[in-house]
Amino acid sequence: MGKIILTGDRPTGRLHVGHYVGSLKRRVELQNSGEFEKIYIMIADAQALTDNADHPEKVRQNIMQVALDYLAAGLDPEKVNIFIQSQVPELTELSFYYMNLVTVSRLQRNPTVKNEIIMRNFETSIPVGFFTYPISQASDITAFKATTVPVGEDQLPMIEQAREIVRKFNQTYGEVLVEPEAVIPENEICKRLPGTDGTAKMSKSLGNCIYLSDTEEELRTKVMSMYTDPNHIKVTDPGSLEGNAVFTYLDAFCRPEHFAKFLPEYESLDALKEHYTRGGLGDVKVKKFLFAVMNDELAPIRERRLAWEKRIPEIIEILKKGSAEAEKVAAQTLTEVKNAMKINYFEDEEWIREQLNAT
Ligand code: TRP
Repeated sequence: MGKIILTGDRPTGRLHVGHYVGSLKRRVELQNSGEFEKIYIMIADAQALTDNADHPEKVRQNIMQVALDYLAAGLDPEKVNIFIQSQVPELTELSFYYMNLVTVSRLQRNPTVKNEIIMRNFETSIPVGFFTYPISQASDITAFKATTVPVGEDQLPMIEQAREIVRKFNQTYGEVLVEPEAVIPENEICKRLPGTDGTAKMSKSLGNCIYLSDTEEELRTKVMSMYTDPNHIKVTDPGSLEGNAVFTYLDAFCRPEHFAKFLPEYESLDALKEHYTRGGLGDVKVKKFLFAVMNDELAPIRERRLAWEKRIPEIIEILKKGSAEAEKVAAQTLTEVKNAMKINYFEDEEWIREQLNAT
């Protein structure tokens, strides 16, 4: 059997550069590697509703935004299947059976869930659907027999949970499901790109995100007002790299060729950092360089987005076809699951015979 990818995002907002360096960029590379037999990219609207029950409109509005971000980033609908989670009801049926293989205490120990409960101030009023979303995520992955799940580092506990469910299922009912592996960024910085204010996480509510859909001017404004070193006041002052968002972003986006192209007086990022820490290099100069570097990466994405925005009917068709095809695959897996669990009574000659003999 060939290698299969399944991954996705919750459509609660437009995708930002944290999503891009954390996973999206890698997905495009994997797509172009030709190594995968099938690639499924899912817009996880049902999962988004687990903590947005009161805001279905937000989820509904962002489905197309996320689809546009995918296509803009370079996912190619000829090579990948993009679909909408809620349009594949087989996924929820799988979850219902997987729920019996997971304990409440195991879910409570899931670090991502734990963390999200704190971030969302759920305290004791955690929606049951939200609490169990790691199980639903295992359904998403296993329904497609995915071997490979490119995700951000925060999703590792979800993949671990899915692997446990697979092992437990296969042990209990027979080998049906495939154990997936996560693929996360190699670059440490890309695993957790901070917001433009230098705080830990990029989040819409903090207003510290750079979106893939930002215009060139929006990008420039955001980069020029990024958090640096508050003690680096005069150009001659020695600057600190610690927690300095501009250098963190350079670590994530800068490639050696960017120096020849935009800042030829330095030969490498190390040389630039050295000058900054020694003193004599101003923030504005570094920010202008960062803008040039990021714009180099984001301009083609922005252009593809503008082109796709004129082709919305085609995108609707892509999502509709993608969802129908995804449903076929998920239905096949669900049949295998139910066969293994022996709850396919009307196709089960043995069960029918037993009933006849019992009377
Ligand atoms: N939890 C992922 C996110 O927060 C979205 C998602 C849902 C997902 N199902 C998945 C990712 C299956 C990978 C595999 O964006």
